[in-house]
Amino acid sequence: MEKDTKYYSANGKRFKLYIDEEQIKETVSILANKINADYEGKQPIIVVVLRGAMFFAADLMRQLKVDCQLETISAKSYGNEMVSSGKVQLQMSKLMISDRDVLIVEDIVDSGQTMEALLKRFADQGARSIEAVSFLSKPSQRIVYPRVKYIGIEIEPIFVIGYGLDYAEQGRQLPEIYVLDEEE
Ligand code: IMP
Ligand code: MG
Repeated sequence: MEKDTKYYSANGKRFKLYIDEEQIKETVSILANKINADYEGKQPIIVVVLRGAMFFAADLMRQLKVDCQLETISAKSYGNEMVSSGKVQLQMSKLMISDRDVLIVEDIVDSGQTMEALLKRFADQGARSIEAVSFLSKPSQRIVYPRVKYIGIEIEPIFVIGYGLDYAEQGRQLPEIYVLDEEE
């Protein structure tokens, strides 16, 4: 592992600083404010998509003023490649969500297939409402178009790591977001 303030190298590839901690903080606050307003008086179940969204979810939840319950679901679509495999595996303990308001927390929506699978899963279980918040989104990459009510930052179709996002399991712990440096 090699890191200076601007670059980080993971699995032999060089990544460059893209979104700093300040912008991350501001974005989280904006999202939290919207969610606080929309869920006032409700008791949503916050479902964090492991593992990438852990960091964002921890920051977001500490700014929520509504009574909420924390649950996790594990979703895997990427292998060690930088493109979606298209197959989404979901793993979750049995949750009583019938008649509950579910808010899914994701790190990034790319092709949309993971979010589509998540929304379908909860709809099948009879949730009262299901919405999603994603810290990042790559709108031009969509293959399917799930509804994501809250989006932090829209980015170009580039590969990023940090703030929970990994490249072959490296880089998750970075407090900032880095982009693959093509100029190497
Ligand atoms: P989708 O199903 O194609 O929308 O992919 C969503 C999942 O792919 C996310 O939850 C991430 O785990 C992963 N992913 C998508 N883009 C990136 C990226 O740029 N860096 C790291 N992981 C990514
Ligand atoms: Mg993910």
